[in-house]
Amino acid sequence: TDEEDMYRPNFHFTPNKGWMNDPNGMFFYNGYYHLYFQHYPYGNKWGPMHWGHATSTDMITWKEQPIALYPDELGYIFSGSAVVDLENTTGFSTDGKIPVVAMFTYHDMEAEKAGKIIDETQAIAYSLDEGITYTKFEGNPVVENPNIPDFRDPKVNWDADRKQWTMVLAAGQEIMFYGSKDLKEWNLLSKFGEGVGNHDGVWECPDFFPLPVKGTEDTKWVLLVSINPGGPNSGSATQYFIGDFDGKTFQIDESFQKEQAKEHTFWVDHGRDNYAGVTWSNVTTAEGGKLFIGWMSNWLYANDVPTEKWRSATTIARELGLIKDDNTYRLVSSPVKELNDYRGKKVVDKNISIAGETVLTTTEIISLSKTEINFILSDVANGKYTFTLSNSQGDKLKFGYDGTLNKFFVDRKEAGRINFSEKFSDKMATAIRTSDATELTGKIILDKTSIEIFYDQGQTVMTEIFFLNAPFNALSIKSDLESFTLNTIEINQLNFN
Ligand code: FRU
Repeated sequence: TDEEDMYRPNFHFTPNKGWMNDPNGMFFYNGYYHLYFQHYPYGNKWGPMHWGHATSTDMITWKEQPIALYPDELGYIFSGSAVVDLENTTGFSTDGKIPVVAMFTYHDMEAEKAGKIIDETQAIAYSLDEGITYTKFEGNPVVENPNIPDFRDPKVNWDADRKQWTMVLAAGQEIMFYGSKDLKEWNLLSKFGEGVGNHDGVWECPDFFPLPVKGTEDTKWVLLVSINPGGPNSGSATQYFIGDFDGKTFQIDESFQKEQAKEHTFWVDHGRDNYAGVTWSNVTTAEGGKLFIGWMSNWLYANDVPTEKWRSATTIARELGLIKDDNTYRLVSSPVKELNDYRGKKVVDKNISIAGETVLTTTEIISLSKTEINFILSDVANGKYTFTLSNSQGDKLKFGYDGTLNKFFVDRKEAGRINFSEKFSDKMATAIRTSDATELTGKIILDKTSIEIFYDQGQTVMTEIFFLNAPFNALSIKSDLESFTLNTIEINQLNFN
């Protein structure tokens, strides 16, 4: 159909049919990356939540699997995580099979309908067939609600130093830390969040893990906290905190806290379409990085985007790392290396002198809906640099860097269909540039309905979706400077059918 042709992404995961929101329960085992997701298979708006399921050997090409968890009398199956219980701490193993244990929130709709605001508890389920089918634990819930209205999204990680399971849970506008030896009995360890970070919305979908600081021997702990609303460009977005962990308490790093209080630039993504992202358990990259994927939409308009058969896609899977600059630590993200395996035809241009609007490529040469673009501006000046993607229908997506404001921007108000929601493109998205390097680099990932831009080696990321009237057929660049040199532009077509 038209909708499939126009809007079904070439390489970002979408459910075959029905609604999707948060990624859930990601784990790696036996060569497979598992991705579960908040799913309502019988309609294209949010509804009774299931966990849909997909598997991949590279986090790029996904195969949808049967639904893994169905709602039951305890409630809808809200967001959560999954771990591989290699040492059978749960005792769920039989015949030597390794249990995969999912921990999720039960959202009791009956309670909600009856006007009760305390309607969320935490539960577990286990799989003895590597994540395909699950048995719900008969002792559920494993964490009762201590009288907190928003109490959800358990993310479990194995704390190798302490040999314990650590679980972070969103509770109102705080994060609660729990510990367990067997995933069934949980003790509250500590709380975090008062007085730090953004509090303009409900805290949701936390994640907590250590990361090595690049170029040092140090390790720091990272806490991801999604918030809705309160995002830097409105609606939902994910902020992060960096600090230390002693097995009980997360202590925010002093330099980090100071910088964040000055200017809150600590968001996983500054675009409007990366929410509720968390990391894969049971795997780190060769560099010690964590693997992340987010929901590529925003609660502002997710239920209204112009697709009928399915709604929403995930972001490209990303590797997360940590860097330290003069002031503090920062999270950096880049698309997973596995994406490089799809590179096909390539055009490279160097030292192009640009004066006025200059076309960099057209679809006669390379497709602009399955594309990886890398650029370098060696000496970024105080001008405004604007890339434009365009087509014969007059659709235009503009993005780039404004040196006078020291801000990146994405402007989708002319990028096709926008009328389905007032909030979709009432303004352009911007992000403060945090690097002070004279060289500005960028990596751009393009699919039919999304752009993901990684500036300054992933220090600042902007992910936004759009719905065109026709595919883009040209990419150009211009500036308000009289002229400038685009030092490198490399455009890779990605091979997907
Ligand atoms: C985040 C969220 C979670 C919740 C889920 C429900 O987008 O609100 O907090 O578990 O969606 O689908």
